Amino acid sequence: MTTGDVRTLTVRAAAKINLHLGVGAVRADGYHPIDTVFHAVSLFDDVTAATGEPGSGPVLTLDGSDHVDLVDVPFDRRNLVHAAATRLAREQQRAPDVRVAVHKSIPVAGGLAGGSADAAATLVALDRLWGLDLEDQDLLRVAADLGSDVPFALLGGTARGTGRGEVLQRVDDRSTWWWVLVTSTHGLSTPAVYRRFDELFPTAPARPTPADRVERAIHSGDPVQLARVLHNDLEPAAFDLRPGLAELVSRGEAAGALRGMVSGSGPTCAFLCADADAARAVCSELRETEPARAGDLGADGAVLVTTGPAPGVHQVAYERR
Ligand code: C5P
Repeated sequence: MTTGDVRTLTVRAAAKINLHLGVGAVRADGYHPIDTVFHAVSLFDDVTAATGEPGSGPVLTLDGSDHVDLVDVPFDRRNLVHAAATRLAREQQRAPDVRVAVHKSIPVAGGLAGGSADAAATLVALDRLWGLDLEDQDLLRVAADLGSDVPFALLGGTARGTGRGEVLQRVDDRSTWWWVLVTSTHGLSTPAVYRRFDELFPTAPARPTPADRVERAIHSGDPVQLARVLHNDLEPAAFDLRPGLAELVSRGEAAGALRGMVSGSGPTCAFLCADADAARAVCSELRETEPARAGDLGADGAVLVTTGPAPGVHQVAYERR
């Protein structure tokens, strides 16, 4: 395929969970230093980009799977897809005339970096649609300007993240890990969770807890070892802001998960299971019990079986002019 021929193309990006999230004291720029292990899981958003009318700017349309509530998603420049298109066009000194259709399966404000996935997918889609053929380093730099989790969404797999999450190093991860995700239709705001962290831990050390133990457990390939060391410093803040999450974690563990935890800033919870059968069993049990909690967590949240690591942004369809 020559990129010059492409008129419409669809690019897919994965959700992420954090297998370790060490958070240090807030920096002068308002961000928190983190030491994290990002892990992409098999829950994807699709971004379809097509050449737009001259002078139209980025035109965004959105739809979503049943478990995704789009009510709080902005359609304007506050949307990361819009920001990605505008930013890349400005860098390339070209008009940002593009139509972008986003199909969301990653819950909004769920702690799964769905908005970051969409931004990363948009960068790759436009790189191909516009025939830019940018170097990885250039795409990663633009991604980091858009948000702390956007570079990892490009990369996928499993990776250690430091700085504010944008400095990445791949982790050699040859296993297939089985996860049950419990989403909620009511999101949690990432800045609000970080603010609660500051209130709960006013004496947090400047340096975040290192992710070394999780990296070693990943290399072992043993889910029991990994379950023992999963860690999220934002979990107490998410528990505090969303009563019911702690109980959900206990319920998933009682249902047979090796370990449950809040994903990133929440409210999605991720449950590591021993294998595919265990994941399916935990999923069915949580599906039976979850409606009872609808008032707490928002009706119609989904209970999903996923695996990781999932690939980074990749093209899934194209149509020539
Ligand atoms: O980088 P991003 O725009 O995704 O971050 C959103 C918000 O999350 C930041 O404005 C900040 O409040 C918080 N954040 C943080 N420390 C990080 C990443 C995000 O405090 N490492």
